[in-house]
Amino acid sequence: MNSISLSDAWKQEALNWAAWAREPGHDSYWKFHRDQFLQLLPEPGELTVDVGCGEGRLARDLAKIGHRMCGVDVSEKLIALAREADKDGDYRVGNASKLPLDDNCASLVVSFMCLHDIDDLYAAVGEMARIMKPGTSACLSIVHPLNSAGKFSDENEKAEFVIDGSYLDESRYAFPIERNGLSMTFHSQHRPLEAFSRAFERAGLLVEAMREHRVPDDIAREVGWKRWQRVPMFMHMRIVKR
Ligand SMILES: C[S@@+](CC[C@H](N)C(=O)[O-])C[C@H]1O[C@@H](n2cnc3c(N)ncnc32)[C@H](O)[C@@H]1O
Repeated sequence: MNSISLSDAWKQEALNWAAWAREPGHDSYWKFHRDQFLQLLPEPGELTVDVGCGEGRLARDLAKIGHRMCGVDVSEKLIALAREADKDGDYRVGNASKLPLDDNCASLVVSFMCLHDIDDLYAAVGEMARIMKPGTSACLSIVHPLNSAGKFSDENEKAEFVIDGSYLDESRYAFPIERNGLSMTFHSQHRPLEAFSRAFERAGLLVEAMREHRVPDDIAREVGWKRWQRVPMFMHMRIVKR
């Protein structure tokens, strides 16, 4: 059983995460994921808020293409690292369930690989809706619910993908991983797609676009991830506030 909340688990994992996220070329972010995510983003407006910004890599990248950024994360250590790497940036310690931001202040919300790591999905999505100006959007990236529900039987291209638990029930999971001398445990909650849809419905947000990208050919070959060209690893959504 997990005795601690997801946010506390992430606070404990903060320095491992920062090392993992910052190692050049190491994480899927650098390999292909950021570039796939950027395809969904609208042009920069007045203020882009990054919910669950971590050590700030996406906020720094978005600032380079013209976004005025504010990053929020529950981990004080990660926010300190984000500030250190971007002295002029606006980074705030805060919980996604109670964002330290005014109503209708954001012209864009982004949340990259974070909503599945958050304890209270409904509160977090409600808070996103609260800070979004009417007519603006939020772009989200999550572990695809199919991915978090199951696993491949081995690492071969044609490996079976097996769901031996339940897709439809929510479940907490911890995914320890070691690669290139770095180790990290991802703490997350599997939620079926319907949970996200219900959270959007309750917050009055509409899904405008949804993407289930394949891992690109060159990366699939290089990393041995051909199996991830049959099952989606991640899901991207753009949701709008009317
Ligand atoms: C997988 S990391 C992604 C970080 C960042 N978006 C990136 O891609 O570099 C998940 C992040 O969610 C943050 N997080 C977890 N629960 C949170 C909460 N309730 N409120 C705000 N941030 C949270 C963690 O501290 C961590 O930085």
